[in-house]
Parts: sequence; C-alpha cells; structure tokens
Amino acid sequence: MCGIIGYSGSFCAQKILLDGLEQLEYRGYDSAGVALLDDQGELFLQKKAGRVSVLRKACEAAPVKSRCGIGHTRWATHGGVTDANAHPHSCGQVTLIHNGIIENYHEITAAFGFQDRLHSETDTEVAACLLDHLYRGNPFETLKKAVDILVGSYAFCILFKDRPGQIFCIRNVSPLVAAQGEAGSFVASDLTALIAHSRSYFVVPEKTVMTLSADRITLLDLNGQTMEPECLTVDWNVESAQKGGYPHFMIKEINEQPQAMENTVRPRLFNGLPDFREEGVEDSLFLDCETITIVACGTAMYAGMVGKAIIEQILHIPVAVHIASEFRYDTPLINEKTLTIVISQSGETIDTLAALRLAKECGSRTLAIVNVKGSTIARESDYVLYTHAGPEIAVASTKAYIVQLAVLYLLTGRIALLRGIFTEKQAKEFMDTLLSASSSIAQVIQKDEAIKKAVKAVKHSDHAFFIGRGLDYAFSLEGALKLKEISYIHAEAYAAGELKHGTIALIEKNTPVIALATQEKIFAKTISNIREVRARGASVILIVKENAQVDPDVYDIRIDLPVRQDEFAVFTAAATLQLLAYYTSDAKGLNVDKPRNLAKSVTVE
Ligand code: M6R
Repeated sequence: MCGIIGYSGSFCAQKILLDGLEQLEYRGYDSAGVALLDDQGELFLQKKAGRVSVLRKACEAAPVKSRCGIGHTRWATHGGVTDANAHPHSCGQVTLIHNGIIENYHEITAAFGFQDRLHSETDTEVAACLLDHLYRGNPFETLKKAVDILVGSYAFCILFKDRPGQIFCIRNVSPLVAAQGEAGSFVASDLTALIAHSRSYFVVPEKTVMTLSADRITLLDLNGQTMEPECLTVDWNVESAQKGGYPHFMIKEINEQPQAMENTVRPRLFNGLPDFREEGVEDSLFLDCETITIVACGTAMYAGMVGKAIIEQILHIPVAVHIASEFRYDTPLINEKTLTIVISQSGETIDTLAALRLAKECGSRTLAIVNVKGSTIARESDYVLYTHAGPEIAVASTKAYIVQLAVLYLLTGRIALLRGIFTEKQAKEFMDTLLSASSSIAQVIQKDEAIKKAVKAVKHSDHAFFIGRGLDYAFSLEGALKLKEISYIHAEAYAAGELKHGTIALIEKNTPVIALATQEKIFAKTISNIREVRARGASVILIVKENAQVDPDVYDIRIDLPVRQDEFAVFTAAATLQLLAYYTSDAKGLNVDKPRNLAKSVTVE
C-alpha cells in the first residue's frame, strides 16, 4: 500500500524514480509524485493525482538534472485523491514520502500548533511539519526524537534541503528494502523497483536511521551504533516482473500456475513423500498440536478455508479460520497446543502480521506460508514455508492462491503420514495427485471455450451468486472475490443449502448463479439447491467434474473440470473461476491488473 522509492547516485534521478514508480504502481495508483534535490540544495517537486503516466508526462515537460530524489505512488487513506494530497510533502527544510498511517496526527497538529502550516488533509504532511520543527541540522537526532512522538506505522524517505545528495529513511512496521548498485544507492517499498539495479539487497531494520549517499548506505540504531545489514539475494529475474507478451499480468500469472505448483511441491518431496525438515520445520510442530488456527486476509484467508476443509476431513484436527483484522482484536482462544498458520503472499499485510504477533504472545507456535522472501511475516514467524510463485504483480491474486493451497495439501500429507493416518503408499498417491493438479490446471487454461461462453451470461449483470457445499463452498468464496474485485459485479458466495434462509429472495430472471458441484458426497443435495434457483429464473453456470452425470435441465452452461478426485477439485475450479473473472473484466474494458480502490499490498489497518 503506497509505493516508495529513493535514489542517490550518478545518474538522472528523475528517470530512475519514474521507472521505479511504474514497477511499484501495483501498490497504489491514486496519485504519484517525485521530489528532486540538486547539488546546490534546490528542490524540485512534481506531484499529480492519477497514474504514474500522468506524472511522467508532467516531468518530461520539465526535466530536472538531479542525481538524488524520492518518489511515491499513493493509495489514499487520509484525504481524497488530489494533487495537494499526493506525496511528497514539504515543510520548511523537510520533504518526505510515507507509507503507513500516523495515528496521532491530530494530537501532533494540536500539540505543536501546525494547523496553519498544513496544505493537505494527510497525516503525512503533519509528519513533515514535525520533522521540520525538530530539525536543528542533525537528521539522526531529529529522527530519534520523532520516533518517540509518532504513533503508527511508517516507512519514510526524507530529504533535508541542506543535505544534497543524501536521503534519510526510517521505518516502523511498513516495509522498506535497500540496495547498493553500480548506479548508486536505492531504497524502495519492495524489490520490484530495485531488481533492475541490483540482485543483492537488504531489509531495512525497524527504527534504524538509514542514510543513502551516492556511494554508500549507512545504518545507525537509535543509540547511534553502526549496524551491518544482512544481505539477501533476489531469486527471480527482471522478466518475472514483466508481462512477457501477455496483455495483462493477471493472465500471465494464471498461465504461470502449473510451473508455480511444480516449484512449490516437487522440492519438498523425498522419495515421493512430503518433508519439511530440510527447511528447518520440525515434525514436533505437527505432532504436538491439538488444534490449528489459520489467520489471513482476502484470498489467502480463502485458501485457509479450503485448508480447513481438507485438514478436518483427512486429519480430524479441529481447524479455526480467522480474518486477521478481526482476530487481532478478538479474544484469541489459542495456546501452546495450537499451531497457528498465517498465510500471506506479500508477507507484509499488517493485520496478518499483528495476528502473528498476537499468536506468539499467546504461546502458540507459528508457521507462515509466505511468497516474498525475507518479508516481515516470514522473518517473525517461528517457522516459514515459502511458496515459490515468483512475483505476483496483478492486484487480483491467482498463482499465490494456488501455491498456498499446494502448501496446505503438502502439510496435510506430512501430518497424515506422521500421525499414521496415511501409509507411505497413501501419502505417495496423495502427493502424486497433487503434482498432477498442475497439468490439470494447464488443461483448463488451454480449453477455455465454455468459460468464455459463461462470460457472456455474466458480464451484463449487476449481481452474481456462487453456490456450493462443503469444499465447493470454500472454493466459491474465492471465485466470488475474484469476480467482484476486477469486474465490479456484486458477487456473493453462499453455502448452497443456506440460500433458502434468505438469499434466494435475490434470485430473479437471468441472475447468474455459478454453481459448483464437484463433491460426490453431497452432489445430489447441491443439484437440488441448483434446481431451486433455476426454478426462480436463475441462469445457471454449472461447474462439475468431467465425468459427472447431470440432467441438462439443471443448467444453462456446463463447465467440465479435468479432475477425478474430489479433494483435488479446487485446483481446476480455481483456475476456471479466475479465468471467468479475468475474461469478464477484460470484456467490460476494465483495468484488469489495477482495479479501482485497491492496492496489492495492504500495509495499513
Ligand atoms: O499479501 P497477502 O496475501 O497477505 O494479501 C491478502 C489480501 O490482501 C489479498 O489476498 C487480496 O484479497 C487479493 N487482492 C485478492 O485477489
């Protein structure tokens, strides 16, 4: 949420910042801005509501020769989408960009009498005023004092007018990574903006003052002690974060799913059996726990819902799934006998991070399923299992969901083996089927005619319903989220048997109902529920296993999934529902990769 970048080096900062902001735009795209400080200490500020392309145009009309500057792409929290609210914000000697929320900005404004100095509605401008107020020519002392006053989450990159060529940074919770490349020193919210300049990087430690100069980066803790950063190496390339000939990142990422599955599953199989010990995840974690709690947000939470269904069905261990933003303020009924699994693509989602910290406080052992290496959640959790999806750029999560599921299936296999629920033979078969899911996903992607037909039935509608029972209900939650977030069609998922307790009142002639009926055990029941909506005029898109026998009266469009085992239907069902959402959004001419009001990484509460 909000992308920030800073550069000090020997090349044109304006170009480097604009290129970096384009890479970071998926973090927020309400407005964008840059501030450049030349060698004489003259400041050039350019900021615009709208996309980075709007800012680029304005910058190209007024090029600035400077080798040091900061840039920001905003996801609005405090104050509307206007030029004035766009970052950077300046006050006196200070110009800064910010990702996060300063919770006590009203109190600071009142306490220091900043009311007349503010030109925007943002919390960030208050922080700029505070730093200017505290500044006596020593950035380190200023930031040290500010840390005691500021409440909230923040990653700041700051220019002081009397410090040309230098950028000062400090963060609390909100992410920042930095790298020293041949062209100079870089700092950014995430790696996508750095990878063109360096493969080696480090995560900026919290509450540490970092100074970027053209030829070096220094870190001082708040006691003034020098710190050595722990350097990491990027394990993906620039091409992974580009469209590679696809019209959108989302369709590229859908197509990458079979490979992502392979990368996530195969290295964890030893003689065909799942094992995490090489990654430092001890078996005692699975043998000692009596219950499992899964905490996550959005798509990651829906992956957890599928995980719950599978784990309870196979392992008979009680699993509770919580929305992280609720969990963190609820009464956490967990203890040392609970294994808490947190799931996050970015590893930076603030609510999931807070939930992880709470779980640890309660004595629970924690295991994170995370895609981004070295992210805060990955670092803070007791154990981590990385998903190997590569960078996911489209705001709508696709491949990250598939590999989160893959890890949950791997975990199920491992625990079943350890607890004697599976024999080795059964565990191997389970893993073989999991591996084969990647080729089934590829088949769905190649054979998408029925999905495209379904798009025609959905795209003109204001509402759509997704129904299913058991595992099918768990998949349909994610299907509905995908459709609503990128096509703006109001889509809701319901347990099929629950419709008649209220929701069926909303079904009228031609209301699209996407019905999932992949589970043998409850197949007949689901079909009766489908008949109920069809009797009320719904246009039914039925998703079933390819060998299912269904009366053609039950549906308008039938989509067959190339799958035989019920427990594994989610992989092909997910790809189908992702494509349905993708083609619908594209057919409506919407911005598939950057849907309105959203951002990729949610680093504010
Ligand atoms: O990075 P995370 O997995 O923690 O993100 C969680 C959600 O914000 C995310 O899954 C979101 O729901 C997706 N945009 C949905 O497609």
